[in-house]
Amino acid sequence: MKITVQKANWKSFKADAVAFFQPEDTKWLESSLQYYDKGSALHSQASQMLSGGDMTGKKDEQIVLYPTKGEAGAKRIILIGLGKPEKSSLEVVRRAAARAAKKARSLKSKTLAIYLPHVGRHDGATIAAAATEGILLGLYKFDKFFKKEEPDTKLESVTFLTDDGKIFGSTVAQVTKAIERAELIANATIFARDMENEPSNNKFPETLANWAMEAGKKSGFKVTAFGPAELRKHNMVGIIAVNQGSVKEARFIIMEYNGAKKSSDAPIVLVGKGITFDTGGISIKPAAGMGDMKSDMSGAATVIATLKAAADLKLPINVVGLVSSAENMPSGSATRPGDVITYSNGLSAEIDNTDAEGRLVLADALIWAERYNPKSVIDLATLTGACVVALGHVTTGMMGTDEVMKKTLKKIGDDVYERVCELPIYEEYEDLIKSDVADIKNVGGRWAGAITAALFLKRFTNYPWIHLDIAGTARSEAASDYIPKGGTGVAVRLLTQMLTEESEKK
Ligand code: BES
Ligand code: MN
Ligand code: ZN
Repeated sequence: MKITVQKANWKSFKADAVAFFQPEDTKWLESSLQYYDKGSALHSQASQMLSGGDMTGKKDEQIVLYPTKGEAGAKRIILIGLGKPEKSSLEVVRRAAARAAKKARSLKSKTLAIYLPHVGRHDGATIAAAATEGILLGLYKFDKFFKKEEPDTKLESVTFLTDDGKIFGSTVAQVTKAIERAELIANATIFARDMENEPSNNKFPETLANWAMEAGKKSGFKVTAFGPAELRKHNMVGIIAVNQGSVKEARFIIMEYNGAKKSSDAPIVLVGKGITFDTGGISIKPAAGMGDMKSDMSGAATVIATLKAAADLKLPINVVGLVSSAENMPSGSATRPGDVITYSNGLSAEIDNTDAEGRLVLADALIWAERYNPKSVIDLATLTGACVVALGHVTTGMMGTDEVMKKTLKKIGDDVYERVCELPIYEEYEDLIKSDVADIKNVGGRWAGAITAALFLKRFTNYPWIHLDIAGTARSEAASDYIPKGGTGVAVRLLTQMLTEESEKK
């Protein structure tokens, strides 16, 4: 798919479809008739559409007009409702652009021209970037397993049109640059979605390591993966304990991208939970919904994809990605409830429930992160059902000790619309994870489950740290404009934007 910007007018620009966005504003809609030649068939179609109330600009409205020869360069005109102007934002652009692209595809259009809508005080480059994200993420499908009767028609190109060579103050060159950056980030998000959606008969810890290595080779970052021998050598007891019921080998994956001028600059370390399937282990989960646990490696997917994005964008910053990967299975060799493990930092943990495995494998990575003297460590994990109970699928739960990074992620989360919501980690909650036989236990009982999970992790950190619980946001239950059902690739855009802004600081 090629997305470009071009100085051209829709009346002559040849395409299978041209899309216009219609704000929910009566005056604007009436004045929009001026775009069609007075007396033309198109003008009469458009005025009937408006007088009939078929298009009022509401965001679920879509109308197709068919120009007769000479009235337009395109075979069809797609009108997409944009919603109320006072609600317009970059998110409105992402969603509307996704709807336009999907509508064009459903009409078997291969080429689409778009006039971008002006929202807020954003310049054309920023709006084009949002539209690019919406288009690429909206067209995403995980359809590789379907038997294809006939090949799908693909939307091959989208062209943002400008009559005068500028889009809301941005030049064609500026818009082109913004599109290219947005494409890289959207493709990294798609990479994460593909990994998340892959079924677990094709996806084991070794597979995750291979995906990371391929990405590292292509995009330019170093990847090392520890197998069973190295895991034992480095005493990574959490990963070993969680994986020991599986017939597959565990992996600890280390990704290093050194983009800063000085390779000694303190890195930002990203840590991902990479459970390639979570049955719960001996504390086995109920059958209903267990299949969703194929994407219990979403944190890992986001970390791998974000390293790819940072390297592709050649960001001048040092980033380390750490992934703890295991398969949580019940078997004769599996960890039992009540087992105690002692981590390499001397802290012991009672495994009261083998389904609270994410925190067990993350602890090894958080200990490992210390050696980098990190500027900040951010872990991402589909960690608790309790976080989904608290926040639903709308926002990621954020906890941690890095107050500056919390503010940064809050702001950027709002910008890119991958929002984070802070939950407290008051010390009173720590009582809940006291154990009778070890320093801590891996479950805290019924209440505040997202928080007690975070407090378990906190015991393994001695640097500025953030925990993002993406249990609710990594999978979507219902398709929306640019988020299909299934894996969402959440936080790739959030983290890539954060790394971009951090790299511009100094
Ligand atoms: N992977 C699950 C959490 C999860 C639940 C992710 C729903 C996505 C959707 C995690 O390993 C888990 O099983 N957590 C338990 C913890 C409990 C045993 C303390 C949970 O949330 O029930
Ligand atoms: Mn679990
Ligand atoms: Zn899990």
